[in-house]
Amino acid sequence: MSKDGYLTFALTKGRLADKTMELLERTGIRCEEMKDKHTRKLIFVNEEMKYKFFLAKGPDVPTYVEYGAADIGVVGRDTIIEEGRNVFEVLDLGFGKCRMCVCGPASAKTLLQHHEMIRVATKYPKIAKDYFYNQKHQTVEIIKMNGSIELAPIVGLSEVICDIVETGSTLKENGLVVLEEICPLSARMIVNQVSMRMENERITALIKELRAVVDAEKR
Ligand code: PRP
Repeated sequence: MSKDGYLTFALTKGRLADKTMELLERTGIRCEEMKDKHTRKLIFVNEEMKYKFFLAKGPDVPTYVEYGAADIGVVGRDTIIEEGRNVFEVLDLGFGKCRMCVCGPASAKTLLQHHEMIRVATKYPKIAKDYFYNQKHQTVEIIKMNGSIELAPIVGLSEVICDIVETGSTLKENGLVVLEEICPLSARMIVNQVSMRMENERITALIKELRAVVDAEKR
C-alpha cells in the first residue's frame, strides 16, 4: 500500500469504472492504457502521476480496500452496506444513482401490509434482513440469489424481491412494481483506513478536487 509511492485505485468493472475515469480525467488524472478495450492487462499505471488502477467485481472492491491492496475504491453504496468492511466512505460521486427497493407483483402489497411470513429473494441478504427484521419488524425468509432477481416472483420462488431499481424497465417488462423503497444509492469513494493516515495530504487533496467537480456537475 503506497510503499512504492503509487496511490492504487480498485474500480468496479463496467459502467462505474468508465464513469470514474471520466470524473478523474476532469481533475487531470488520466490513464491512457485503460482505454484499450481489448487489453488483457489487469493493472493500469499512470507513471507520471504515480497512480495505479485495477478493475474488480463490485463486492471485491471493499475487500481490496480494507486489506490495503488498494488505497482507494469506487463502488456502489449497496455493495458498501452489504459487505460491511472497515473502510472510510469519503465521497458521494453523484453517478450510478438508483434505489434499493422491495418489488413484486402489485398483489404482494397486502402481504407486506399484513406482515405475512413471505419469501424474499435478493442479492443483498444483509440489507434485506436489516430492513425486514430491524426496521419493519416483519419475519420473512430471505433467499440469497446471484442475479436476474426479477425471475424469482415470476417463477414462484418468492413473493417479493429486494433489489436495485434504476430506470424501472426490468420491473415493467416483467409485470412487477416497486412496493416499498428502502434507500437511495449511488457510487461512493472509499479509502483504506491506514492509507488515509499515511497519505493524508495526497488523498485529502484528491477528495477536494473530486468534490469540486461533483458539485459543479450538480449545478
Ligand atoms: C440490476 C438489478 C435489476 C436491474 C435494474 O441488475 O438487479 O435487475 O439492474 O435496472 P433497471 O431498473 O434500469 O431495469 P444487473 O443488470 O446489474 O444484473 P443482475 O441481474 O445480474 O443482477
